[in-house]
Amino acid sequence: MAHALNPDFPDGVGMTTTEAPFIEQAVSEGRLYITQPYGLYSRENHQTWRDLYARMLPSWEKYANEHFLRGISNLCLDPEMVPRLEDVNTFLNPLTGFKAKPVAGYVPAFLFFDCLRNREFPTTITIRKHDNLDYLPEPDIFHDIAGHVPMHTDKAFADTLVRFGDCAHTAALIAQETKDKEEQVRKLTSVLKAMARFFWFTVEFGLMRGPNGLKVYGSGLLSSHGEIAHSIESPMVQRYPVQLEWVVNQYFEIDHYQPLLFVVDSFDHLFSLVGQLENWMKEGKLDNVAPGEPLMSEADITSFIEAQV
Ligand SMILES: [Fe+2]
Repeated sequence: MAHALNPDFPDGVGMTTTEAPFIEQAVSEGRLYITQPYGLYSRENHQTWRDLYARMLPSWEKYANEHFLRGISNLCLDPEMVPRLEDVNTFLNPLTGFKAKPVAGYVPAFLFFDCLRNREFPTTITIRKHDNLDYLPEPDIFHDIAGHVPMHTDKAFADTLVRFGDCAHTAALIAQETKDKEEQVRKLTSVLKAMARFFWFTVEFGLMRGPNGLKVYGSGLLSSHGEIAHSIESPMVQRYPVQLEWVVNQYFEIDHYQPLLFVVDSFDHLFSLVGQLENWMKEGKLDNVAPGEPLMSEADITSFIEAQV
């Protein structure tokens, strides 16, 4: 798509999802936690942010939950340019203690949840290509900063993420107490599948019922121009009150709009569900969840077995 790039934008070499020499260098050196080299964003990167933001704003006003809308306003996100994480954190940190922490890419599952426990959110700093605004299988800065971080300004939601990090610690402790190696990996794979499904159907794709009807709080929906409306309006979507026993056994696929979504009443409700998830983990009720997506990678499993807890 042809587009006029704003000549006032600074022009760096580019920090695009598919092409970011700075990130490639960090990955090749084994550096996971990095700084955000702001001058490297290209004019096209800033334009991408601007177009994504402008496209989402009316949908947020219509479909997003009130906590998210308050978060967008409290963070003072710049609609025009890729945000500086430092600026975001200046507004975010005093509210809930959370910080966006720049990362070079994939974060093994235990480290990811451990960051949440420490009120740090591993944040992708690259941005999708301008000619592909819609579909992106991996996270980018728009998904992470515009989709996730506004939710972290809400105390009850932030506490829920921390509670999720506690759950990961419990999972690692239980796994490390299991001496039989094969049984350790089998049970841990099941427990992590349950956690990943819970995270997916709440933090990424959750809906919440409130005084103004059904609203979106899941970040996968909040950062998707097409799916946010679909999630609320489409008769093709099944929407059910969240049930833990269902969620932990429900597979999901990431490459199309979600046909099944779960509804919570409040973030206090969500917080209590995470506590229930942890109790079930301790009781061994997550050791044999239904097979299927998502598949757990060896790196994710190993991150729990080798975690310092
Ligand atoms: Fe996400």
